[in-house]
Amino acid sequence: MQLIVYLLPFCGFLDFAAAGIFDIPKNVIKKMMGTNKEQSNSPYIFSQDNLDMLQRIRKVGFPAEAHAIQTEDGYLLTLYRIPNKNGPSVLLQHGLLSSFADFLISGKAKGLAFILANHGYDVWMGNFRGNTYSRAHVSLSPSDSKFWNFSFHEMGVYDLPAMILHITNITSQPLHTYIGHSMGTTASYVMAAERPEIARMVRLIISFAPVAFMTHIRSPIRFLTPFAGNIEGLLYLLGEDEFLPHSSLIQFMSKLACDMTFVQDKICTNLLFLILGFDREQFDVNLIPSILSTYPAGTSTKTLVHFAQEHNSGKFCQYDYGCVKNLQIYNTPEPPDYNLANITTPFAIFYAENDWLSGIPDVKRLISLLPNVVDEYKVPFPKFNHLDFLWAIDVPQLVYNKVLEVMKMEPTLMTKKMQS
Ligand SMILES: *[C@@H]1O[C@H](CO)[C@@H](O)[C@H](O)[C@H]1NC(C)=O
Ligand SMILES: *[C@@H]1O[C@H](CO)[C@@H](O)[C@H](O)[C@H]1NC(C)=O
Ligand SMILES: *[C@@H]1O[C@H](CO)[C@@H](O)[C@H](O)[C@H]1NC(C)=O
Repeated sequence: MQLIVYLLPFCGFLDFAAAGIFDIPKNVIKKMMGTNKEQSNSPYIFSQDNLDMLQRIRKVGFPAEAHAIQTEDGYLLTLYRIPNKNGPSVLLQHGLLSSFADFLISGKAKGLAFILANHGYDVWMGNFRGNTYSRAHVSLSPSDSKFWNFSFHEMGVYDLPAMILHITNITSQPLHTYIGHSMGTTASYVMAAERPEIARMVRLIISFAPVAFMTHIRSPIRFLTPFAGNIEGLLYLLGEDEFLPHSSLIQFMSKLACDMTFVQDKICTNLLFLILGFDREQFDVNLIPSILSTYPAGTSTKTLVHFAQEHNSGKFCQYDYGCVKNLQIYNTPEPPDYNLANITTPFAIFYAENDWLSGIPDVKRLISLLPNVVDEYKVPFPKFNHLDFLWAIDVPQLVYNKVLEVMKMEPTLMTKKMQS
């Protein structure tokens, strides 16, 4: 009953579902049900064939490599690459419940990875610990509780350094640009604050839908906050180690939200959309089959709890273990803040008005605290939401043209802006 009270306000945010949302073309429904036989000409690389990711990238005419790397604390991650040996390197880093497929899924013409490759960049794509492509460790198994003892803190302190060291070692150049989305931005702030020696190897960091301060989020993860004092209840609802919410929670939320037609049910019960929301006008229904077959890609419950804590505290700080354990781990009763003031790396911040997870006052606060913001860009489309940075119908014009421009900025210009 308590749960129902907390979740009720959530209904209002799923108006997209109530209003008969989509006119979904028949061929898309067929594809979702696996009955579409005419896929060879599809512009969408994630059509439901039996190819692996490398084969799918090659099928649309690009070279592809996979690199297995190891973090200092023993996690084994897969870095994917569309190589261009003479091009400047760029690392794309996905967000919550996602994977490197984020940057490919909208295909050759609109996928950010392909656009950057066409512009001569050496494109690398990471996968954070715990997702489909990085579910391995030198000694722990994913069935081991300890495997899931991480949040975005470890992604910033261990995963990003391992990726950046690997890329810079192979290319013998600093990383030209890091582009993070959602949790990919959170981890980049953690990395820049906690590992300055790694941050110095990065020329520019671009944030899509920045997530650090979370006071003004509209995502339903804010409804976890009341449970924060009741860890057992929380773990029951969310899954003890891996974030695998109890089916009754998902069913309950989607019942509030959706008409139970086949397609809408599939979308409404997908964690990705339940947590991040989406924008009816910019959503390309042709991507639904690919998205449903690939997402959510997995993370730890601790990651979700850490985000809920940030919402609760209004701070951007390390994981809160409670007073006693905080004293043991941090030597202070409260978890320490991430020290944004010491970051020197240039940042370009991209944000949007209708973003469930990245409220404008929170973004402004972040911009005011980062010492070297060289550009800030509000997407000129009022309904633009969190996932639109990846898959919106008009994302090349609304976002990626600006990205290409920012990436060409001269380093001297960045320093000038920093001083002014
Ligand atoms: C999880 O990791 C933290 C520090 O990273 C440690 O203090 C804690 O005891 C660990 N918890 C478990 C259950 O292993
Ligand atoms: C860097 O690359 C060399 C080979 O080119 C390899 O021997 C070395 O282990 C690499 N170091 C790191 C940190 O990846
Ligand atoms: C941050 O910078 C201040 C001086 O600006 C310095 O005293 C402090 O040690 C730095 N902290 C870290 C964690 O580097």
